[in-house]
Amino acid sequence: MQIAKTIAEMKALRMKSFGSVGFVPTMGYLHEGHLALVKQARAENSIVVASIFVNPTQFGPTEDFKAYPRDTERDLAMLRKERADIVFMPSAEEMYPESFSSWVEVEKITDRLEGSYRPGHFKGVATVVAKLFNIVEPTQAYFGQKDAQQALVIKKMVADLNMNLEVIVAPTVRESDGLAMSSRNIYLNLQERQAATVLFKALTLARNLWEEGERNAETIRQQMTSLISKEPLAKIEYVSIADAQTLEELSKIDGPALASLAVRVGKTRLIDNIVLE
Ligand code: PAJ
Repeated sequence: MQIAKTIAEMKALRMKSFGSVGFVPTMGYLHEGHLALVKQARAENSIVVASIFVNPTQFGPTEDFKAYPRDTERDLAMLRKERADIVFMPSAEEMYPESFSSWVEVEKITDRLEGSYRPGHFKGVATVVAKLFNIVEPTQAYFGQKDAQQALVIKKMVADLNMNLEVIVAPTVRESDGLAMSSRNIYLNLQERQAATVLFKALTLARNLWEEGERNAETIRQQMTSLISKEPLAKIEYVSIADAQTLEELSKIDGPALASLAVRVGKTRLIDNIVLE
């Protein structure tokens, strides 16, 4: 496994790569969710590139950029085990020199859900992912359904800007009690970790109601909200039943719908979703 710490090193390794290049961008502190993407990339490509970069521009001023967990040695051991070929770990100084002044903004679908609670977040995500795509030049890039809106934003950017790669979205990997794996789960203490199961419980409730034939989105939102409200450590940011493509809130469910939510458990902000279809 080769490690590229500068953009020039990464580009030089890319020049020597033949066949399909599968790319998994991450912010590190890897878990089985990330590794599932690496495994799929490994199964489907001649070369596998992963990146580890905690991207400062996608964190708001009051968010956890500084506290974001980091463990490069552990990450590299995990990537080596999954037989990644190249790990790109650029510095923030090289990715964002003082003179940096170009941004990618995907409109409309970034206004809702995560976008409305984290202003500027998707501008940071789209910009760093565009830069990473230009540096790595992957033929396929792998993203997790865990961040459903992010995956839609990246797909839209790739389509709108005619980028030459295929975006592949892989299912959410969960702990045995349903909690979606996330680097941020490390912030949870024992009580909060137990309380955090309420997110998947609410999504399961949504799925059950939908399977029983409920098509009134507001009824489902209300039932999810009421279930989460019974958990004293949980504070809802949003509970949404939206069109799975446009992310517009629905009143009546008559096609694929994304049930998604953001909940604070103690100080930790958690998100999760499922598709009803
Ligand atoms: P990060 O949160 O490290 O996630 C990297 C990739 O792993 C994303 O595509 C994310 O959706 C996926 N992922 C995270 N948890 C997952 C889980 N439980 N199951 C399946 N996939 C999961 O998302 C980012 O980093 C950044 O925004 C990034 C795209 C790297 C840009 O900075």
